[in-house]
Amino acid sequence: SVAEKGKYEHFMLKEIFDQPKAIEETLDRNLSDGGRVSLYDMTLTKEDFAKFNKICIVACGTAYHAGLVGRNIFEKFVKMPVEVDVASEFRYRDPFVDEKTLFIAISQSGETADTLEALREAKRKGARVLSIVNVVGSTVARESDDVFYTWAGPEISVASTKAYTTQLLSLYLLALYLGDLRGTISEEYYREVVSELSEIPEKLEKVLTLRGDIEKLAKKLYDRDQVFFIGRGMDASVAYEGSLKLKEISYINSFAIAAGELKHGTIALMEPTTIVVALATQSKLFDKMVSNIQEVKARNAHVISIAKEGNTAIEEHSNETFYIPECMDEVSPLLSVIPLQIYAYYVAKEKGCEIDRPRNLAKSVTVE
Ligand code: G6P
Repeated sequence: SVAEKGKYEHFMLKEIFDQPKAIEETLDRNLSDGGRVSLYDMTLTKEDFAKFNKICIVACGTAYHAGLVGRNIFEKFVKMPVEVDVASEFRYRDPFVDEKTLFIAISQSGETADTLEALREAKRKGARVLSIVNVVGSTVARESDDVFYTWAGPEISVASTKAYTTQLLSLYLLALYLGDLRGTISEEYYREVVSELSEIPEKLEKVLTLRGDIEKLAKKLYDRDQVFFIGRGMDASVAYEGSLKLKEISYINSFAIAAGELKHGTIALMEPTTIVVALATQSKLFDKMVSNIQEVKARNAHVISIAKEGNTAIEEHSNETFYIPECMDEVSPLLSVIPLQIYAYYVAKEKGCEIDRPRNLAKSVTVE
């Protein structure tokens, strides 16, 4: 079917609002009624899996940011060393890859040249290749041993949104499946994660209602020329994606960093006009994040925080706070990225940018 914007002014906004449906679709296609991840087309067996000693995740751009979250999830569910790399670097560092490597390529288009060449290199070295792809029948899909389709539907906007969240979901489902196969995930935890994932579409709808408030904020702050995104743990990975969204479509000089690294250099850049978007959704890291927020606040930065409902302690240190619904820490990237996507969208809109087709960028990069 041909994608249409319908009532939305831009494809990007439509695709942001498509996310509950896209996530629902990916869940429906891969979860049985009994709440088990069922991957009927998967050829990877328990015996195959027993011989792997590491997982290599390779991708570019937004898909790479999904891979960063994937590393966390795989280490937790599958209990195996996981490396994540951008495809354009992976190939040129003579990576240690062999028959004992499970290589996972992530690509919306399935046509990104760097990702494709990295995949070919991994295959030459004997790795087993599994890809997470949105476009059915794309080159990456055709050249992989197994394919996990993301089922986001066509994504037209150059800035990726629903492809990212469905890539995240695919990584969770795959990690559950492989953890189960390997016996590294307890039954109780497995069920808990499945139940949390099943609640995501509804919670997403709730996060999308922040739209009006975020638009107001964007109207107020769109002309600031320096925006930092900070977070710890999985929030750091989401920070990278939020920063990429903003720079892609609004051309603002934006930068993301693991919050604990701020003090080792980046904090020198703080000025009273700087905006800091602080993600603080990880319970175990919450207090540490509050200290980081205080550090940037002390340099008079304007702080926009993203936290889980109920964590109101953060308001005292922030200029604005946006809440995502209560959820298990592990699944929060599926929700916390949404306010960042919406923020990037409205800032770019205020600045009069060409949102769906930003300058210098292409939806799919087929040169190395
Ligand atoms: C381009 C797009 C990005 C995308 C990246 C990887 O740079 O502008 O939005 O994340 O390619 O694309 P892929 O299709 O491999 O996910």
